[in-house]
Amino acid sequence: MKVDGTPTRTIWLEADGWSVGIIDQTALPHRFARLRLATLDDMARAIKTMQVRGAPLIGAAAAYGVCLALRADASDESLERACATLLATRPTAINLKWALDEMAAAVRNQPREARVAAAYRRAAEIADEDVAINRAIGQHGVKLIEAAAARKPGQPVNVLTHCNAGWLATVDVGTATGPIYAAHDKGIGIHVWVDETRPRNQGASLTAWELGKHGVPHTVIADNTGGHLMQHGMVDLVVVGTDRVTAQGDVCNKIGTYLKALAAKDNNVPFYVALPSPTIDFTISDGMTEIPIEQRGGEEQSTMTGRTADGRIETVQIVPDGSAVANYGFDVTPARLVTGLITERGVLKASREGLRAAFPERAGGGR
Ligand code: MRU
Repeated sequence: MKVDGTPTRTIWLEADGWSVGIIDQTALPHRFARLRLATLDDMARAIKTMQVRGAPLIGAAAAYGVCLALRADASDESLERACATLLATRPTAINLKWALDEMAAAVRNQPREARVAAAYRRAAEIADEDVAINRAIGQHGVKLIEAAAARKPGQPVNVLTHCNAGWLATVDVGTATGPIYAAHDKGIGIHVWVDETRPRNQGASLTAWELGKHGVPHTVIADNTGGHLMQHGMVDLVVVGTDRVTAQGDVCNKIGTYLKALAAKDNNVPFYVALPSPTIDFTISDGMTEIPIEQRGGEEQSTMTGRTADGRIETVQIVPDGSAVANYGFDVTPARLVTGLITERGVLKASREGLRAAFPERAGGGR
């Protein structure tokens, strides 16, 4: 995507050829800041504090974290320590584990002196593959938007999305935003309802920012608004991303996604989930019981951060002193509520059969 006219990815190698650049997503939308990461600990901290976030991006970030660790020490112990440290940063998105497994496979059998180069090679491939996958998701998903546009000539297609499954959540392009950007670039009239996505407001802060940068018309709404809009025919389709899809097609995504799927079902609004294949976890079936749901610090719930009228960034408390708060990061939408999975290999039925038929080489070990 372009930021103020310059094509920009969310993660890159710096000019020195080894340290890693990222966009500090905690500073958006008020400040576009780049960070340089030089050590395993830098990368682990960036993932944990959500300076980099979004399932596909934390996979790519973890891959580069392994590179940084091996550059300091290319031993087996260092590889193991790096994978364990990075895996512990965030539990829900399976892309993190997928990328670490890929990295370990790429370097484990290499002689020590070849490991660093092999690691950087595989990390770059993981990043490039993510971009290609997202473009393919866009090409498959845009057909759904084109079909919706054909049903309402002369009017924009209204898409509702939750959290940020956009360019910022991936290396480039985005998953849920892939079809949206493709439609916009083709000249199809499109308007996006952006759920603010409490508690961290990835919709209000990140999705709105990147849609704005690309010129896509959008409106930020409180998380509770979607059902009302659907009842009044103001949503043509919902498209969200995901952090893990099980072998039977259950979808884990940012907290609140399930409620949107329920409202969509009740109002006959198609509910699509866009995902790259590394987000599929063929080792588990039941999303409700088998996916670890991240719980983050209560301060994300009890406070809000924003820009004051005189330009300062401030965090303010919004609950009474002493009130308990809970901060579940994700929920699971059962496959029966999902109209289709938009993948790089097409739009699939959210079912064991649908996933297995499209990705037979990965489904092998699944239940
Ligand atoms: O906690 P986050 O911001 O990393 O959560 C991100 C999401 O839930 C996204 O919807 C998901 O990772 C899909 S990203 C293409």
